[in-house]
Amino acid sequence: MSRIQSQVRGTGGYLPERILTNDELSKFVDTSDEWIVQRTGITQRHIAAQGELTSDLALKASQNALENAGLTPEDIDLIVVATTTPDRTFPATAAILQNKLGMRHGVAFDIQAVCSGFVFGVATADSYIRSGMARRALVVGAETASRILDWSDRTTCVLFGDGAGAMILEATEVADDAPEKGVLACSLRTDGGHWDKLYVDGGVSSTRSIGHLRMEGREVFKHAVGMISDVVEDVLEKSGKTTGDLDWFVPHQANRRIIDGAGRKLGVPEAKVIVTVDRHANTSAASVPLALAEASADGRIKSGQLVMIEAMGGGFTWGACLLRW
Ligand code: ACO
Repeated sequence: MSRIQSQVRGTGGYLPERILTNDELSKFVDTSDEWIVQRTGITQRHIAAQGELTSDLALKASQNALENAGLTPEDIDLIVVATTTPDRTFPATAAILQNKLGMRHGVAFDIQAVCSGFVFGVATADSYIRSGMARRALVVGAETASRILDWSDRTTCVLFGDGAGAMILEATEVADDAPEKGVLACSLRTDGGHWDKLYVDGGVSSTRSIGHLRMEGREVFKHAVGMISDVVEDVLEKSGKTTGDLDWFVPHQANRRIIDGAGRKLGVPEAKVIVTVDRHANTSAASVPLALAEASADGRIKSGQLVMIEAMGGGFTWGACLLRW
């Protein structure tokens, strides 16, 4: 008997050129480098140029992932874009990306799970691949978060940045007893009872406007570590692994204190945690694939290693996936 595995073929990332440092930010917002670093670990963020759209960032990350995988757009038959900051209300940013990639085949759609979007995207693509509905999936997390920030609200605008990351998953048919590879298990959760703790105060149906990101920071912080630990432990249990088996822990990059808290609760040594929040800030759905692309490109994540990804965000949504690289 045989089974289908979704294996990782390649990763890629892209960050806009413009860097906004804490010191620069503190010239027009009542904040300081010291406060931001101490509470969040963030020192800078990248900001998309005027006219540079979420699909443009997604395109560059996708091209980098395709190059890394040695593939062309012709080889892809599923595009999943996780974003909270789409180019337009519709069509899906995934459809725009598909067109920018010069593709007319396959299927492309967006996923809206805020910061957890990429993890939800990996789980979705894995399901498509395992069920035979897709052979090669391009999963992208891309955000221009800067466009929904209230730049006069110091409690939120210091936390976010723009960027995109992409991963290509490929179906491989293997014997039932073949060694595990690719996506091993995922666990996803949503609890809409928390929607008003992290949200945008505008929308097509409610205000006919875009709105701005609003957040009860302390409430998010209070729930984050517990929710993250729950799904990570669930994935470990499903796949018969323990924290000690992990080679890398690649958490959503919201805040250094949340990352450290989750690492401590799960018992993951700091040396095994990939951190980019200091340079990227919180790029929402892009944060995990950007971290994966960076750590894979610089040789930290190697073939055969066990990698746990996790994220938590607005909704609340939260989830984790375990991958054998
Ligand atoms: N600069 C200077 N002072 C600030 C700033 C700022 N940027 N922001 C808030 N303050 C002030 C507040 O006004 C307050 O002042 P006061 O005591 O005079 O009233 C003081 O700092 C403390 O404010 P708190 O909100 O209590 O600060 P806290 O220690 O909770 O840190 C933070 C705020 C960093 C937002 C924290 O709550 C947090 O990390 N929350 C998690 C939220 C998060 O990371 N969200 C990302 C999106 S969700 C996700 O991706 C999981």
